[in-house]
Order: sequence, then structure tokens, then C-alpha cells
Amino acid sequence: MIFPADLIKALRQAQRATALTGAGVSQESGLRTFRDAQDGLWAQYRPEDLATPQAFQRNPKMVWDWYAWRREKVSQAKPNPAHYALVELAKQIPNFTLITQNVDGLHQAAGSPLVIELHGNIHRVRCSVCGLIHSRWDQGGDAVPRCKVCNGLLRPDVVWFGENLPQAELEAAFEAARTCELFFSIGTSGVVQPAASLAYLAQQQGARIVEINAEPTPLTSFADFALQGKAGQILPALVKATFFHESST
Ligand code: APR
Repeated sequence: MIFPADLIKALRQAQRATALTGAGVSQESGLRTFRDAQDGLWAQYRPEDLATPQAFQRNPKMVWDWYAWRREKVSQAKPNPAHYALVELAKQIPNFTLITQNVDGLHQAAGSPLVIELHGNIHRVRCSVCGLIHSRWDQGGDAVPRCKVCNGLLRPDVVWFGENLPQAELEAAFEAARTCELFFSIGTSGVVQPAASLAYLAQQQGARIVEINAEPTPLTSFADFALQGKAGQILPALVKATFFHESST
């Protein structure tokens, strides 16, 4: 795989880089992206209709069961070469910030030291009434489990459509976008705000944008480097060509 010499040079010289990842990074771990059709039991539903506070209010059991099914799939998934390449980038670049929209925890499983999770984590649940985070809950029963403190219904600790993102994570993400020299947008369709605006903010502040995606997105024509293909192939090759090539002086 041949990369633009400019990109290799920028990456070798970068003191600060930020990466935003989306569902495409976990696609090669066997997890479907958000905008792919669902499979199996849930094929007839659209994620946009299940991942909302209104859906949970209307039918908490259905939403809970969908997340239980997704949590099961995530538990069986393993990090892929894209996740490991991002661990390596964090070692090579003095200030590297990893921001993800994924809730699967695969960056942490690969060994990424610090991950800003913009959309929460599917392995945590919290009370829909008092907000208490629960690391354990009754998984045996048929009903949606309840909070041991206030008896409210438990829900996954993820951000649903129409909900606010966690404030501290959002501020850290904006700061990392504002201050980096290189901004990577990897495996994200770039249509869900506010994450989608991070790349444009970085560019306005002088960063160069590197997009890695299997398909063109709204960001592609703005990117300084648009690398089309699978993240699990492109990212490790880029890391190798930049930091482990014999002529990498
Ligand atoms: N390598 C690189 N890119 C890939 C790969 C791959 N192997 N497979 C798919 N892609 C790209 C697709 O082309 C698409 O642009 O990943 C992107 C996945 O897009 P979405 O499914 O929209 O996922 P994402 O951008 O993470 O969605 C953002 O929206 O639904 C909400 O909260 C949910 O976090 C999610 C957010």
C-alpha cells in the first residue's frame, strides 16, 4: 500500500494528533455498523427507532432486549488490526487523543490507554430515574431489571438519539480537535452531531484531516488525505510505513 509522502511526513512530525472513530472500526471485528441492516431477530427494526428515549418509554422491554442482544455480540467480538494500530499511534505520537462514538469497549480491550467515549458504553447500565451506574444487575429474569436504590428501570449507559452527550467527554473532544495538527476520522459516516463537527473544527484551527473509510462520506471532499478502504488494512499499513519502514528517518 502506497501512501502520500506528505502524509507520512506529517505523521512523523506530528506532536499532537486526534482520532475520531465510528462503527466502521469495529466492522472487521464482526460487529455491524449502525447504518447497516440488522440481522437475525432484529432484522425488521431500524436502530434509529430503538435507540431513543421515546422507544424506551413506550416499550422498555423491547429496547432492553435489543441491547442485551447487542451486548452479547459485543462480548464475543475481539479487537481487530485497526484497534491495535491505534494503540501503536498513541505510543508513537507524543500527544495522541482517541475519541470514539463506539460503545463496544474494543479500543480499551486492544489496550488504548485513554479513550474518550462520546456515546457511552454498552457494558454499563444506569438507572433511568436516579442515574446511578450499576455494574451488576439481574440478568436472569424476564422483566427489565430495576435500580436497587430507587426501583427505577435500568437502561444501557449509552447516548440515544436526541439525548445530550456527556459534558466532560464532549469538552475534552472539542479541545483535542482544536489543538491537534492531524485529525483522523476513521470508520464514521460523519452524519451524527456533534461528533461530526469535530473534523471541521480541527480543520478551521489548522489541522490536516485524514479520513479512512470504506466509502465516501460528507467529509471526504474536505479531507486533506482521503484513504478509501478498510480501516483494519489501511491503519496498520500506514503505521508500518510511517514508523517501522527502514527508511523512516
Ligand atoms: N473500515 C472503514 N470504514 C468502514 C468499514 C471498515 N471496515 N466498514 C464500514 N465503514 C464505514 C462506512 O462506510 C460508514 O461510513 O463506517 C461508517 C459507519 O457509519 P455508521 O454506521 O453511521 O456509524 P457511526 O458513524 O459510528 O455512527 C455514529 O450514530 O447511530 C448513532 O450513536 C450511533 O455512534 C453511532 C453514531
